[in-house]
Amino acid sequence: EVARFRAAVEARHTVSRSRRRSPNLVISIRDGNNQVGFANEAESDFTDGATRAAVAAAVAAPPTPTFDRIESEQQIDEIVSAAVAAFERGDADPDTRRSWLLGVTDLMATERFQTVGLLAHAVSKTAHEADPEIAEAIDFCRYYATDGRAALDAARTDGFDVSGRGVITVIGPWNFPYAIPTGGVAAAIAAGNSVILKPAPEAVEVGAWIAEQFWRAGVPRDVLQLVVCDDGPVGTRLVTHDDVDTVVLTGAYDTAAMFLGWKPSMRLFAETSGKDALVITPSADLDQAIADLVRSAFGHAGQKCSAASLGIVVGELYDDPSFRQRLRDAVASLRVGPATDPASMMGPLVQRPNEPLERALTRLDRGESWLVEPTCLDPDEDGRLWTPGVRLGVTEGSWFHRTECFGPVLGIMRADDLDHALRLQNATAFGLTGGIHSLDDAEIDHWLEHVEIGNAYINRHITGAIVQRQPFGGWKRSVVGGGAKAGGPGYVAQFARVSGGDSTL
Ligand code: SER
Repeated sequence: EVARFRAAVEARHTVSRSRRRSPNLVISIRDGNNQVGFANEAESDFTDGATRAAVAAAVAAPPTPTFDRIESEQQIDEIVSAAVAAFERGDADPDTRRSWLLGVTDLMATERFQTVGLLAHAVSKTAHEADPEIAEAIDFCRYYATDGRAALDAARTDGFDVSGRGVITVIGPWNFPYAIPTGGVAAAIAAGNSVILKPAPEAVEVGAWIAEQFWRAGVPRDVLQLVVCDDGPVGTRLVTHDDVDTVVLTGAYDTAAMFLGWKPSMRLFAETSGKDALVITPSADLDQAIADLVRSAFGHAGQKCSAASLGIVVGELYDDPSFRQRLRDAVASLRVGPATDPASMMGPLVQRPNEPLERALTRLDRGESWLVEPTCLDPDEDGRLWTPGVRLGVTEGSWFHRTECFGPVLGIMRADDLDHALRLQNATAFGLTGGIHSLDDAEIDHWLEHVEIGNAYINRHITGAIVQRQPFGGWKRSVVGGGAKAGGPGYVAQFARVSGGDSTL
């Protein structure tokens, strides 16, 4: 039965293409990701009383990892020298590195709810969003330690010389402060490097917790070092230092562009911004389409580069009162509250809205109206807790159509037909994720052929790429510096040098 089901879904579900459209098909089974033998860490069952009690206890007493702040460029130089020395010592063979990473996965699984508690306090992430992030971190470590390293292991077997490249700096984001830095660190370690981890300023405790878990799993403190510092000259030094071989960044496009401005010759792999859309055609299964649109738009309060910022609705469906009513009801049903309440589906923003987000939450443009008007629930406090908003009538070429806002606002656009929907979807500067909800094969094939995005999802939500099955990364301004997609087959190898052997790779 499983084989039959698997064969059926393998025919069609999710496509995560390489950046150059070469086939790189991976499969997703909607809402059944863990049930058919794929090697992914299962998500927790929050309907289980014991799980809920464990989460509540962890949220009440989260871990408090400690760290020192790095204040000077000279300290950065010392940290980089120590990383170079650790690399040159070269005393960890591939098997040792593999066992470190598998040890990290064990610790991450054992301490899962502690991490849920930390993420609630540090970045206001709800348990429902934190838990899959932890599963993803575990997947990254396990995959990069095993199958993700297969090309390098095969090269070794074939007599090639395989080594790390030196010192890799990993700069993490605040929205996935646990899984994404863990992925960069794990891949760089798997390939034989020394690593310096710089967490986002908003999420330094989470970075300290990651480092602590890696150290406790046996990774020496000079093979992985933590740098908590300001984004001034000290942080700049960590990026531009001549002994740093590669910088891995997850952050805004402008940050990546700034790095290249500082040092055009740098080896940079940056995953950057997105303005992602989910297309819904009249043939869609509306119940599923609306559930997936809402989940994609408002998970972690929309603060994901992969979040659906636009819903592009084709033809008569746009004007269908029942579509609007169902969308309104689905959005209204989201429970908004503190991240420390395990029942909250949407928590506060990580910080008070910046200028574009403030505009998106409070001002409409010509032709637009609120299907659901967002409100700030804590205006007298820090102004971070907002209810979700839905803008109706977003027009082609308008401000909201093109601007990444990174928050709990979804814009709905009308398309005359599928080609028009594709034009609207492709009209932004970015090309990260996107999806289509349609039960018409010809529509799906046409959309896949023409959409300009890295991760294309069919009849599924458009966030939450699964390691190994849906390698993650974009096109256009969603990527700077290229490189392989995260969680995919080429990712570890780009942190290695391969030489010698009887033939060329
Ligand atoms: N990998 C995340 C996702 O797929 C985004 O960074 O949602």
